[in-house]
Amino acid sequence: MNRYRPWYVILHWASALLVLLAFLIGLVSLANQPNDGAKLVPLGVHVVLGILILLLTLARLIVRALMGRPVYRIERPAASGRRKVPLLDLLSVYVQPLLYLFTFLMAAVGIWLSIPTDLFEILFLGSEKSLPPDFYAYPARVWHGTLSLVLMLLIGQHILAFVYRQFLRGENYFGRMWFAPRRGKRED
Ligand code: HEM
Repeated sequence: MNRYRPWYVILHWASALLVLLAFLIGLVSLANQPNDGAKLVPLGVHVVLGILILLLTLARLIVRALMGRPVYRIERPAASGRRKVPLLDLLSVYVQPLLYLFTFLMAAVGIWLSIPTDLFEILFLGSEKSLPPDFYAYPARVWHGTLSLVLMLLIGQHILAFVYRQFLRGENYFGRMWFAPRRGKRED
């Protein structure tokens, strides 16, 4: 089996975990909540997570460019004369680069939103200013919300493709993005 390198596996799962947390905090504790003092802690955690995600995304792109990625061959049914590639596999070709792009844009737009709202000063530098009455007064907030929907759809396709390959096609697809067993034969 062709596996991703251990560094890349660590970066992938760290990104997945942080994106999940940023989403949860964004949806549960930020969206549609009053902009009072109680919002400062979840917002601070969200911003730190978002910046870590941005750094991890850049690190992943660098590691990927330096080390390449393992080849993945799409198995086609031998009996069928026509070379038919399942739609989910076809979509993955486009979705995988889009996942990087939209994760990056999401974090970049978050930073864009934090500039006119003095978010960094308020959250981390002890500024006396208060949060804006409504973040939606800033175009970046609308973009942040819209991009979050697109990112959710992309992540949904990514998970569906995994379920299809792992459980319906019976490949050890998860093993590609996990560490090789310490003992025994290396598979790549
Ligand atoms: C990939 C990283 C990020 C993800 C996945 C993410 C996700 C989200 C989500 C899902 C929401 C709620 C959206 C909605 O319901 O419309 C949200 C809101 C928000 N995010 Fe992020 N975010 C990220 C990065 C950032 C960064 C880096 C910052 C700032 C530096 C930031 C600042 C905010 C702010 C200020 C809000 C709005 C809070 C409000 O309306 O009260 N986010 N984010």
